[in-house]
Amino acid sequence: MTLDELAREYGTPLYVYRLDAVRRAVADLTAALPPGVRLYYSVKANPHPVLVRAVADSGVDVEISSPGELAVARSAGVSGDRTLYTGPAKTSAELADAVRAGVRWFSVESLADRSRLAAAADTPVDYLVRLSGRATAAAGLRMTGTASQFGVDADTLGPDPEILRPTGNARPAGFHLFSATMVRDEAALLDELSTNLRTARKVADRTGHRPRVLDLGGGFAAPFATPGRRERYPALRAGLGRELDSAWPGWRDGYPQVAVESGRYLVAEAGILLTTVLDRKYSFGREYVLCDAGVNVLGGMSGLGRLLAPAAQPQDQPESAPPVVLAGPLCTPLDVLARTARVADPAVGDVLAIPNVGAYGLTASLLAFLGRPVAAEVVVDGAAVVDARRLTVTATGI
Ligand SMILES: Cc1ncc(COP(=O)(O)O)c(C=O)c1O
Repeated sequence: MTLDELAREYGTPLYVYRLDAVRRAVADLTAALPPGVRLYYSVKANPHPVLVRAVADSGVDVEISSPGELAVARSAGVSGDRTLYTGPAKTSAELADAVRAGVRWFSVESLADRSRLAAAADTPVDYLVRLSGRATAAAGLRMTGTASQFGVDADTLGPDPEILRPTGNARPAGFHLFSATMVRDEAALLDELSTNLRTARKVADRTGHRPRVLDLGGGFAAPFATPGRRERYPALRAGLGRELDSAWPGWRDGYPQVAVESGRYLVAEAGILLTTVLDRKYSFGREYVLCDAGVNVLGGMSGLGRLLAPAAQPQDQPESAPPVVLAGPLCTPLDVLARTARVADPAVGDVLAIPNVGAYGLTASLLAFLGRPVAAEVVVDGAAVVDARRLTVTATGI
């Protein structure tokens, strides 16, 4: 079906996810990494179970950080030994549920987190200690290497630290260093990952811990809500391989097993948002195009100044088109998807297609704000629709 046919069949606002684009992204990222590096898909980027299954079926493991993402991973058929449970401030209950559901790999972010895991695990589990080292590259969003709620400051770990001692059923198995997202520049990305692997080396030498797994994090960049392609990292494979050879001889034989994580790179390009123009008007000299998708559908966190600036740009529009404000239907002036989008002569009823919204789209938005129905989502494989659904926000008694 074409995008117009999908809009007519399912209505708008409508997310369309293309499985062939997901498979292409997995293949591209795998080819950009040194052979033997294990790849985790960060489910937070898009927890749609059909996408998660497609990613997992192409050999990628999953990184989850909540009970909801655990449920998605299970329903997508991903086994517990292919699942890494991460995140700060996990509760005892969620850890116990994850262990019960078969998860055997965790990232712990503090001694308290490790102690809760040890208390919750009634069967042996392995954990990585998340480290915060030095900051390097210009990144979209920095998690560690600066003051943050994430990880343990690497410099604070001396010989034989408490957090690296086996406790109950919880066994230390290595390090986790996710430090930044959206590192567009290849040299900067290599610098970020190299700094991470050297931070881990220093901590291993100082503490005496020999990691079985070394999760270096990620930062693989992709466009958000504007036309364009994912970054390509042609020199990363050789460059990262060299850095690993020098700091971690033996890694090619799996000592340690090296891993990286990616959310947006694998799914961003797969998603297109279809939205219908509901009104077109002028206010104090500026043109407004009002659509049925606002920050309840896309870019909710950018509305909060939290993620990427709202700069949605519909595809297939001439650059010469005059700039308009692309606004949503919510009764708040904050409901703006772009302040200067190019849209050629938009008419009420036109359907606009906003590309590259497969990551941090619907579930990163203000779904319940102002009570509009949640946008529908369809998954297509080639020309065939393989799934159509709509999330709902409902209240139940407790
Ligand atoms: C621990 C961790 N892993 C992976 C990711 C995914 O980042 P991205 O979607 O930019 O690849 C994040 C993003 O916040 C994260 O915090």
